[in-house]
Amino acid sequence: MTDPVARVPRSPNTAAEFESYYDLRWRVLRALWEKPRGSERDEFEDVAHHLAIFSNATALATGRLHQRDSSIGQIRAMAVDPAHQKRGLGSRILNALEAEAQKRGLDQVMLHARDVAVLFYEKHGYEVVAPGPFSWGIKHFEMSKQL
Ligand SMILES: CC(C)(COP(=O)(O)OP(=O)(O)OC[C@H]1O[C@@H](n2cnc3c(N)ncnc32)[C@H](O)[C@@H]1OP(=O)(O)O)[C@@H](O)C(=O)NCCC(=O)NCCS
Repeated sequence: MTDPVARVPRSPNTAAEFESYYDLRWRVLRALWEKPRGSERDEFEDVAHHLAIFSNATALATGRLHQRDSSIGQIRAMAVDPAHQKRGLGSRILNALEAEAQKRGLDQVMLHARDVAVLFYEKHGYEVVAPGPFSWGIKHFEMSKQL
């Protein structure tokens, strides 16, 4: 079997892949805080650009780009399966979302980073620009990167 770390981010294609994509988002970003299934989705899913790294039809890493206006994209839903973290998958997703933003002619990408993930984004050239939302006891920071 090909090493999953070598796999390239791509959009989910089938209903099963989308199910696995949202399941990973829920497991990594919501389950620990006892949030119900469905809480991992918002009103922008239909218009957002979704990326994942799959092993067969199972998502190992996810991320999403939502174009806010003609110049700014917002990245959300960055989640890597705990068994596959710190192996470069999150970086691959982030790089691919930035490449998509560049392809669309956007100048800037922003996101709300959980405090534990700020260093990960700093390593990718993001800077903290403002305090972000405080949700479920998790401190966030608004971070931004010029493309
Ligand atoms: C944060 C997350 C998306 C990063 O993805 P990943 O695949 O684990 O990270 P990578 O292997 O691509 O890491 C790239 C670099 O960032 C570092 N890094 C990764 N996660 C980090 C973290 N939480 N804190 C500090 N550094 C981190 C890595 O050590 C690596 O550093 P190096 O290049 O010096 O070796 C992933 O760990 C994750 O899903 N975490 C839990 C959910 C979460 O916090 N999501 C972000 C919400 S804003």
